[in-house]
Amino acid sequence: MNNASDPVTVVVSVDGPYLVTGPVTVEYQVIAQDDTGASWTWKRADPVTTGSRFKLCRCGHSGNKPFCDNSHLREGFDGTETASRATHGEQAAVTDGPTMSLADVRSLCAMARFCDGHGDAWSAVESSSTDEARGTAAHEASHCPAGRLVAYDKSAGGAAVEPDLEPSIGIIEDPAVGVSGGLWLRGGIQVTSEDGTPYPVRNRAVLCRCGASRNKPFCDGAHRRTRFADDRLPAYDATADGTDTVPTPSV
Ligand code: FES
Repeated sequence: MNNASDPVTVVVSVDGPYLVTGPVTVEYQVIAQDDTGASWTWKRADPVTTGSRFKLCRCGHSGNKPFCDNSHLREGFDGTETASRATHGEQAAVTDGPTMSLADVRSLCAMARFCDGHGDAWSAVESSSTDEARGTAAHEASHCPAGRLVAYDKSAGGAAVEPDLEPSIGIIEDPAVGVSGGLWLRGGIQVTSEDGTPYPVRNRAVLCRCGASRNKPFCDGAHRRTRFADDRLPAYDATADGTDTVPTPSV
């Protein structure tokens, strides 16, 4: 369980793992398809047992995933950080619609494909004079794990349309493509660079754990190209039935 007085932090170590401090749930999060084959909900698989200080692999070579086993030393991992330190708003391209807008930072895309499940989020925002389009935009933007997309509701004073997420770390699995994804930081977990600089806190962010991102420490979808596979997966249910771990914000 999380304790507000005990915040969760993630520090990127030099050419090494993520150093996680604080009691936080770590569990597999599976991209579930609906009956049309679209990414539509998130399913929870078994949690991973951790202490309150642990190291998560970011080179992709650990034999004890998701934890570090020092394989980065053997592999000569180059974990140089290349991501922008600017805020999401400073980096975003904005699509404007009648009642909503959509801020998009393409470099953060983790290729989970929630943005075009049933009509794309950009078109939905442009058509946001209808309740249906507003609902589509809210669902698709809020399910983007990386926070590439953030919708804003102009009819609610321009408030961000963000899901209510407890701080936790999700280990992404993408069975439709047959690959494993990054580490999903949910609920506003602070990430600090190896040089001590804090990245702007976001409600949704995905860290690379395959080692191949060109936007380190964040995932850029390279795990699809490299066919990254976690060979220590628990059993899971990839159907869209059951509880969606991301509650769609009402708009
Ligand atoms: S886990 Fe997505 S790019 Fe490495």
